[in-house]
Amino acid sequence: MNLRTAARGFVAFLLSVPALQGKPYWAVTYPYINICALRGSTVEIRCNYEYPYANTVEKKLWFTNIHNKPVDLKDDTDYSGRVEYSCVRPSCSWSSSSCIGTCTLRIRGLTLSDSAEYQFRITTNNGGAYSGVPGVKLSVTDLQVKVVIPSSSPNGVQLECHNMCHRTGYVTYIWYRDGTQPLHGRLTWFNINSEYRVSCAVQGSEHLPSPSVYAPETPSVGVTPPGVIKEGSSVNLTCTSKANPVANYTWTKVTTDHSPGHSVQGQQLSFHPIQSSDSGQYLCKAKNELGTKSSPISIDVKYGPKHTFVISSPPGEIMEGGSVTLSCSSDANPAADYTWFKDNQPLPWEPRRPYTLDSVHSKDRGTYRCQAGNQYGYLGSNSFFIDVLYAPKTPSVSVRPPGEIKEGGSVTLSCSSDANPAADYTWFREHGGSVEELGENYTISNITTELGGNYYCEARNAVGLQNSTLMFLNVTATSSSSVTTTTVARGTVAVLLATILLLIFLWMRRKRGGRPDTGEESPPCPVYHNVSALTNRSASAAQ
Ligand SMILES: *[C@@H]1O[C@H](CO)[C@@H](O)[C@H](O)[C@H]1NC(C)=O
Ligand SMILES: *[C@@H]1O[C@H](CO)[C@@H](O)[C@H](O)[C@H]1NC(C)=O
Ligand SMILES: *[C@@H]1O[C@H](CO)[C@@H](O)[C@H](O)[C@H]1NC(C)=O
Ligand SMILES: *[C@@H]1O[C@H](CO)[C@@H](O)[C@H](O)[C@H]1NC(C)=O
Ligand SMILES: *[C@@H]1O[C@H](CO)[C@@H](O)[C@H](O)[C@H]1NC(C)=O
Ligand SMILES: *[C@@H]1O[C@H](CO)[C@@H](O)[C@H](O)[C@H]1NC(C)=O
Repeated sequence: MNLRTAARGFVAFLLSVPALQGKPYWAVTYPYINICALRGSTVEIRCNYEYPYANTVEKKLWFTNIHNKPVDLKDDTDYSGRVEYSCVRPSCSWSSSSCIGTCTLRIRGLTLSDSAEYQFRITTNNGGAYSGVPGVKLSVTDLQVKVVIPSSSPNGVQLECHNMCHRTGYVTYIWYRDGTQPLHGRLTWFNINSEYRVSCAVQGSEHLPSPSVYAPETPSVGVTPPGVIKEGSSVNLTCTSKANPVANYTWTKVTTDHSPGHSVQGQQLSFHPIQSSDSGQYLCKAKNELGTKSSPISIDVKYGPKHTFVISSPPGEIMEGGSVTLSCSSDANPAADYTWFKDNQPLPWEPRRPYTLDSVHSKDRGTYRCQAGNQYGYLGSNSFFIDVLYAPKTPSVSVRPPGEIKEGGSVTLSCSSDANPAADYTWFREHGGSVEELGENYTISNITTELGGNYYCEARNAVGLQNSTLMFLNVTATSSSSVTTTTVARGTVAVLLATILLLIFLWMRRKRGGRPDTGEESPPCPVYHNVSALTNRSASAAQ
């Protein structure tokens, strides 16, 4: 609209104010200025108009106060195909100096947003324009079923048909159950949680029923984002249920012990971030005044291993030959595979089976640990020390210093045995009786030949005992008295030989020289006796 027409419109408007109503030339009047209509129905808005004689009407239009300028409803996309003007050709009278016409606006398929003030406007050939102000107030209303909750009855509710156009009592209502089966009366009864739907209509406008009211339908529940739920991510559970009146939603976690779980109001249950403990079943309850319906949903939160530790059965120390089972325990979803390590070296073993040693050997002693893993992570366990207890192995005996053991010297026997716990040692001498010396080292100082012989040690711990093989101590006599004896013996042999040679010489001289003279004969016996004594002595010294 340009400035000129606006100005003219303003002038025309001034002419139409009630104070100037007596002036006959311009007028727009409406027989009904308040109209109420049901949604979906067709409404007719009428007007009578008058304009000065000898003018020609160039344009007739209906418009609303929605836009701040007169936009012809026929050009308004909100009304396209739904409006129709039926205008009667104006009749002009020279005596009254004016022309009079009527024009009716028809709107079909009324919507709630058609509620507005409608005005009629005429524009004439000489530039005059006139709008009928105020216009016609159109209210478009829904038929509504209202729920009236009686305090007395918990199993049912009253339904009341309601509309803003007709005051109660002025119209007859018809009720429908699931679209058919008409029932009469202003009120009807609804049993809580019934499956049927109820709507109402005004008698005479049966084709314009109210929206149906009904208890919630089975809710549909969904998880976003879809797919695998990983611990730490953000997850929403959403519940949707068709219901009229609109349902209220409650989320509850289903507890295994049937205790009342924590409930959250609202259509959405958000986890930010989600934790492994959030796994479980949830129930969404949709509730309106006509009933309640629930749907469950399970969520399974995936996570890498947590709290990985080794459990030993039996716990603690193991006897050699016994059996032991090591289990790796870890909280993981899905269940973890395990890798076993002994002294940080991986052990070949099946990933799910506990690590079992059926006949424990001393070499199995060591520090064990496991590592749990699934596609979401890895976690190592604590270290677990397996102590294998075993009786002493056959002890080994050594002698120090090595080599010949000389009388008067000092010798140390050492006993050593592999044992767990460490062995205690006791020394014995074969036949020789009671050495029974305690300790791994047995030192004999100032050894004598009498102390030579077989020795052995016994290793003993809580599990058992074991004797060593015999160790022979060959003590060599090297004292000064022995040297003297040998010298004496050599001297004795020399004297003996000399005596024998002398006797042979004397005997041969007696044979060759005839008769020996008696004076020269000497008795051999004392000499012989001496030899015999010497011989005896040398024999004993050689022993
Ligand atoms: C969950 O819902 C909240 C609030 O509606 C939204 O901000 C968030 O993006 C949603 N998260 C996911 C993973 O859908
Ligand atoms: C739905 O929730 C609203 C607000 O919390 C409450 O006023 C209303 O009574 C509830 N309706 C039902 C059917 O529980
Ligand atoms: C036994 O002798 C060895 C070697 O000399 C030594 O290392 C060890 O400590 C001794 N043991 C005891 C209990 O004295
Ligand atoms: C060794 O034994 C002999 C005889 O028993 C004794 O005479 C000598 O004094 C001892 N020597 C030492 C160092 O004890
Ligand atoms: C080891 O020797 C001790 C003492 O002679 C004896 O009592 C014990 O039975 C022996 N033990 C074994 C296992 O031969
Ligand atoms: C002890 O040693 C001596 C000298 O080396 C040797 O002749 C003797 O045969 C040994 N005795 C034993 C029983 O081995």
